[in-house]
Amino acid sequence: MHLDQATPEQLRKLETALAEEYQTILQAGLNLDLTRGKPSGEQLDLSNALDGILQGKYQDTNGTDLRNYGGIDGIPEAKQLFSSMIGMKPEEVMIGGNSSLTLMYFTAQTCLHQGCSDADSAWSKESTTKFLAPVPGYDRHFSVCEHLGIELIPVGMTEEGPDMDQVEALVQQDANIKGIWCVPRFSNPTGCVYSDEVVRRIAKLANIAGSNFRVFWDNAYAVHVLEENAPELANLMDYCREEGTEHSIYHFGSTSKITFAGAGVAFVGSSTGNLAVLKKHMGFTSIGPDKINQLRHARFLKDIDNLKQHMDEHASIMKPRFEAVIQQLEAELADTGMGSWTNPKGGYFISFDSRPGLAKSIIALAAEAGVKLTPAGATFPYGDDPEDKNIRLAPTYPSLDEISKAMNVFTTCVKLASVRQKLANS
Ligand SMILES: Cc1ncc(COP(=O)(O)O)c(C=O)c1O
Repeated sequence: MHLDQATPEQLRKLETALAEEYQTILQAGLNLDLTRGKPSGEQLDLSNALDGILQGKYQDTNGTDLRNYGGIDGIPEAKQLFSSMIGMKPEEVMIGGNSSLTLMYFTAQTCLHQGCSDADSAWSKESTTKFLAPVPGYDRHFSVCEHLGIELIPVGMTEEGPDMDQVEALVQQDANIKGIWCVPRFSNPTGCVYSDEVVRRIAKLANIAGSNFRVFWDNAYAVHVLEENAPELANLMDYCREEGTEHSIYHFGSTSKITFAGAGVAFVGSSTGNLAVLKKHMGFTSIGPDKINQLRHARFLKDIDNLKQHMDEHASIMKPRFEAVIQQLEAELADTGMGSWTNPKGGYFISFDSRPGLAKSIIALAAEAGVKLTPAGATFPYGDDPEDKNIRLAPTYPSLDEISKAMNVFTTCVKLASVRQKLANS
């Protein structure tokens, strides 16, 4: 039954039945967690061969002994592998440590204080620095900016990516806008893949916004497909070359969700000029990254075809978990008017929108029943979801059995909160 077609009498009956169901759930004393965008143990096991793979051979293709200091921008075989993964040239990629988030923070901090090209280009030379934040988005992007004192301006997401009319209008009006966060393939949390048209328009942004504008292209889920027919992402750098805006992008990625989440390899792709600047400033923080781990990864993942096969193995573990979430949502909430959700073809998340004003109460009800969900508002800058409706579901880490129990609680809480709201407003 659709909520908006129910009579007050039907609503009251429904509320009584749902409240009873909820009481039974409370008594079960559950302790489940759908918050974490982490690979499951089975996924981590796929990369156990990293351990011991070097067998005493510590030299890269140039014959350099990687056990020693140096090589701030990474080893040649890692550049080869990860540049082919993101469609850039090996000399346009710098390989870092285990976290792309660290590289994002470092890049933003460098642009802010030292300048993305020279000292005059430092964003901090101007009164304020602002970034566009497509919403819902990734909370840690927002906290990088919040920590650095960069103001965040939310812009809407469509099914094709950020609302580019809004983005272009904003950068035209406000010269203090110096960047935009993008998760272009299987975006966190909606799972959207940016359309070719959106990617093309993003490549043009620096021509509107000015030479110090930067696109933080966080391609965290570049190869994380759940289905063979998953949509491809256009190559931003190719479009930038056509527009003469190669300097305007930083293309981030890592193997956090390819190999080991805590011990992978991260990288950033950009113009060679931008990389020289990053390399120079990086030299003040480190004498070089963990090149041994880079070599392990290059030997283990080998090449792009092998890497894709490895990702297919991830998909076969992850897909049933995503399907369990979607099946439960369909079975319990389809055509009820109580919420809508995404059904992504890759990535790590499903994004759920409740009726406005209910995300906080649904999350609180679920918490009381022993199911932890990502805090309401986390997908918006400053933790403020103006409509209080977005909830991020992360199905990769729990077991199938745990997912099915947690989703049963979730849909009961959605129904209970929706019916109670409707009754209160009728
Ligand atoms: C969009 C996005 N970027 C970056 C990260 C973190 O990446 P890393 O482990 O390389 O720091 C995550 C982790 O969930 C993510 O969802």
